[in-house]
Amino acid sequence: MDRIRIRGGNRLNGTIPVSGAKNAALPLMIVSLLTPGTLTLSNVPRLADVRLLQRILQNHGIDIMVAGKRAGQNGMAGDVMHLTARDIADTTAPYELVSKMRASFWVLGPLLARCGEAKVSLPGGCAIGTRPVDMHLMAMEKLGAEIVIEGGYVLARARKGLKGAHIVFDKVSVGATHAALMAAVMADGDTVIENAAYEPEIGDVAECLVKMGAKIEGIHSSTLRIKGVTSLTGAEHSVIPDRIETGTYAMCVGMTGGDVLLKDANAGHIGAVIEVMRSAGIGVEAVNEGVRIHRNGQALRPLSVETQPFPGFPTDCQAQLMALMTMAGGTSMIRETIFENRFMHVQELARLGADIHLHGDTAEVRGVKKLTGAPVMATDLRASVSLVIAGLAAEGETMINRVYHLDRGFETLEEKLSACGADVTRISG
Ligand code: UD1
Repeated sequence: MDRIRIRGGNRLNGTIPVSGAKNAALPLMIVSLLTPGTLTLSNVPRLADVRLLQRILQNHGIDIMVAGKRAGQNGMAGDVMHLTARDIADTTAPYELVSKMRASFWVLGPLLARCGEAKVSLPGGCAIGTRPVDMHLMAMEKLGAEIVIEGGYVLARARKGLKGAHIVFDKVSVGATHAALMAAVMADGDTVIENAAYEPEIGDVAECLVKMGAKIEGIHSSTLRIKGVTSLTGAEHSVIPDRIETGTYAMCVGMTGGDVLLKDANAGHIGAVIEVMRSAGIGVEAVNEGVRIHRNGQALRPLSVETQPFPGFPTDCQAQLMALMTMAGGTSMIRETIFENRFMHVQELARLGADIHLHGDTAEVRGVKKLTGAPVMATDLRASVSLVIAGLAAEGETMINRVYHLDRGFETLEEKLSACGADVTRISG
């Protein structure tokens, strides 16, 4: 197993290119199930999760071709991926694959819409909480599907096709909104989805669906109005930049000090993160090429922050913010409201000398003067990158084990950080 070794203490200066968003690329790939035409996605990040979803979709019979690097393209440009679901060969998504990546459960909606049936494994447990799928199933039932749970699988059937419906979510869910949207675009009649999540990745998927011929109003808002169509065509679409990767590198720079351009980042997608970083004393400016982050000697100020659905502060940046606040000049309070068990990084940060106390859903982070390197363990995707942030500022050597968690969501992290002066090396297992 690979490990990442960080020797802390270097400031970051230079440019970090932001990759395409994992959380947009995955549902966009799944959208290809809805059409026999070819969906061409560009700016697709090279990530373990993308490769795994490729395998899952190939299992359903989708032809996938990933174009190699083109002349003049640098190593950081994303992949171009052509996906063609001429026929759906298999409507089953097996446990062995779905259990490895929760988002693959989202094939349920498109398979139902296209084939009238699907057998999709329940995703099972997850490091950051129980993460049920009841709202996904409620949405499918509203759209006219019959659902039975048997042997760990969701068996869904819509013999006469899906029908437009009025879906009101009692909680904001990214996944359930994706599922409802992807199914409703090809249902018979009109659908309204209320209390929809409107993370930028959902807007990106909706815009791609519109290019494919879907009729959707209210994109980028909490009420989606959809007029079902009988078929969708292929299209070309570029994946939006990754706002979580953007927030993560912004916090790396906030932690070490320095001046970095996050190239291609979209400031409009990270308003809450920018606000929080500025309150902490970090300079953030939207510029033509992306977002510039700088800190030059100013002390980090402590903060009180809680995670919220978009446009609030994202849960996917909570661990990284906590790492940053370990060295603030005072006590910060960080409350996690989306997932019940998303504090796995706390014990690992403590190994580096952080002073954090948990009170239910809130972490009290008392700033310390210094962190010291130590061997630590990556536990989930965002938790593991918080250890990188702490390691960049810690004295001495931090060795991060179980790096495969990082590879799920961060493309060439060690290269991007090293190019700005960090001492970060991957040690192959
Ligand atoms: C997506 C993101 C993930 C992010 C999360 C919240 C992807 C691939 N993943 O995950 O990175 O952390 O949004 O921004 O885009 N819930 C239910 N019932 C359901 C569905 C969800 O109770 O049927 C609950 C969850 O347990 C959680 C909350 O709703 O407490 C929000 O989860 P949700 O937005 O659905 O997260 P995901 O779509 O799984």
